[in-house]
This record gives sequence, structure tokens and C-alpha cells, in this order.
Amino acid sequence: MARQATNGNLHKAKGAKSDEFYTLLEDIHRELAYYKNNFRGKTVYCNCDNPRESNFFRYFFSNFKQLGLEKLIASYYVNDTSNLFNLEGAGHGGYIECSEDDLEIPISELPIKFFNGDGDFRSQDSVSLLERADIVVTNPPFSLFREFVSQLIRYEKKFLIIGNINAITYKDIFHLIQTNQIWLGVHLGRGISGFKVPEHYEMYGTETHISANGDRIISPNNCLWLTNLDVQTRHNILELTKIYDGNENQYPKFDNFDGINVNRTQDIPMDYAGAIGVPITFLHKYNPSQFDIIRFRKGDDGKDLAINGKCPYFRILIKNKWPIKAKSSLGSLFA
Ligand SMILES: C[S@@+](CC[C@H](N)C(=O)[O-])C[C@H]1O[C@@H](n2cnc3c(N)ncnc32)[C@H](O)[C@@H]1O
Repeated sequence: MARQATNGNLHKAKGAKSDEFYTLLEDIHRELAYYKNNFRGKTVYCNCDNPRESNFFRYFFSNFKQLGLEKLIASYYVNDTSNLFNLEGAGHGGYIECSEDDLEIPISELPIKFFNGDGDFRSQDSVSLLERADIVVTNPPFSLFREFVSQLIRYEKKFLIIGNINAITYKDIFHLIQTNQIWLGVHLGRGISGFKVPEHYEMYGTETHISANGDRIISPNNCLWLTNLDVQTRHNILELTKIYDGNENQYPKFDNFDGINVNRTQDIPMDYAGAIGVPITFLHKYNPSQFDIIRFRKGDDGKDLAINGKCPYFRILIKNKWPIKAKSSLGSLFA
């Protein structure tokens, strides 16, 4: 009992810390390069972003014309003023809204409009900006990730956001992926170089370093981009090179579900027509024309999928939509 409480507190502390991971410009550039056609004539809203500091705001401000944006809005939550930033209007959140006419003004001189409240993305102040926006692009507080995504879905907004890879394992987020309402972006894990963290962040382990300009950087390998903007990588066919027929011993069946286990996405056999349990990282290669996602994690008994009594870490059950015929049924073709 006591141990559980301790773990819970640790988890909370961790969540609070990752709420203060500030996205690097290079990572924004690298991901956004894949979505450029989505922004013409659109209003972009960065709703967890202090426009004076946010690299999301900086990116869209600098690339406003190239992307053909209509408007750019970024708003911040009042707690920002208590850590990295020091703004007037203490106690109130605020936002900057700009159009093409404002592009000559330095970001530091763009006027901030203050909210009545704290700028919480769920507040009426922020939601009324959301309603005017087409696309939300940000790195939201991880501790409120589910609520953040569900609000975007409720308001039928396009989005491109950063989250923790674990978010895929949340039932509601997984459901949105399974039903092809949202999907993974292009970069994840080591493909995201790092985040700037505030002064008070404890620097330990191999994941942290001080950058050339003195910023404190953490490089976790557990983040991803999540989106509902179309992206070419989602249409790439995953090349399958492995054969099930004749290699059945390499593909053990689950104890509690009629399907085979595959530990690495590249080992998915091309000739298996039934259910295949794959690791969650498969979703990075998921093309909905090639595969169906049929279920998450649980076997027929409602317990985690198991092989000989052991449960591999989170399995997703998929089916290949176009399995090739097994070689035994093709006879002489493979002889
Ligand atoms: C992970 S940081 C990312 C900041 C910025 N989006 C970026 O990518 O650099 C999350 C930000 O959300 C802010 N935040 C926390 N709770 C919020 C809330 N309820 N509504 C809006 N913003 C919030 C935090 O102050 C923090 O600045």
C-alpha cells in the first residue's frame, strides 16, 4: 500500500516536470517539413505557448508567408509567469494574434492581450480562440494530455501535437488511433532531439546536457508527434520480408487469443492472415490500407495477452489486409 502511494507521487512529480518541457525549434522544423501543404489560408493556434518564448510561435511567425497562413494565435497559461517567464499582467493569461501585416514587428513588441482568467486551454477565453482556429500545433502539458486531445476532437480541430509515447496506451487515445481519427506523426523517440527545461529542473543522467548557448536540455527517447493532418508516411507500404509458413516456431500463439506474437515490426510475416500481436511502435509504420488494428492489449479472458503465462509489454492486435498465399498452398511456384 505504502509503496503504491510512493510510486503514485513519483509519477505525479514526473508528470509535472514534463509539463515544463519546451520544444526546440529544430524539432519543430524537422516535423513541420512534412505538412507544409496543410496550412494555406488557415488560422494556427498554439494554445499552450507563451508567444514571447515559444518556438512554435517563432516557427509559424517566421514561416507565415511561406505556409500561406491566414492568422497565427498563441496563448499562455498564467503559471508560465511563475517559472520561465516574467510578464506583466500577472495573474492573467494572455495571447498574441497576428496576421501578415504584423510580420515586420519584432516578436518582443507584438502586443499581448490579457485574458480575464488564467489562460487554461479549457477556459472560455481560450476556447473562443480555439473556435476561430483551424489547426492547433503545440506541445501541451503532458499531465492533461487526454483532456487536451478530447477537446480537440470535440471541437473538430486539425492538430499536430507532441506527447509521450505512453499516451498511445491510454484507452481513449488508442481508440482514436484504431478508428483512424488520429495517427502518429513522422518523428518519435530519438527522432525528437530534446526539450529545453527550466532552471530548477534537476539535471541528471545521460539524457541531460547544457547546450552551446547555455540552455538546459533533456533528451528523453519517449516522445512522439500525434496528428490528424494527412502525412505521406502514413501511406507508405511496410515492406514485409518474413514468412510464417514453415517458420511457425518463431511465431508463438497467445494463450488467451487466437493470434501469433511478433516482437519486432520488421518480423511481421507476409503470409499470415489471422491476428498478429505487435509492439506499440508498430503504429509508427501503420498504413490503414495495409493493416487493420483489431484490438489492444487484452485477450479473450480480459487479461493482458500472454504467451506461456508471460505477458510481453503492451501488444496491439492487427491483421494484414493483403496476406500473400502461404507457400504450401502455392505448391510448385516455390519449389
Ligand atoms: C510541455 S510545456 C510546452 C510549452 C510549449 N508549448 C512548447 O512546446 O515549448 C506545456 C506548457 O503548457 C502550459 N500549461 C500547463 N497547464 C496548462 C493549461 N491548463 N492550459 C494551458 N497551458 C497549460 C505550461 O505552463 C507549459 O508552458
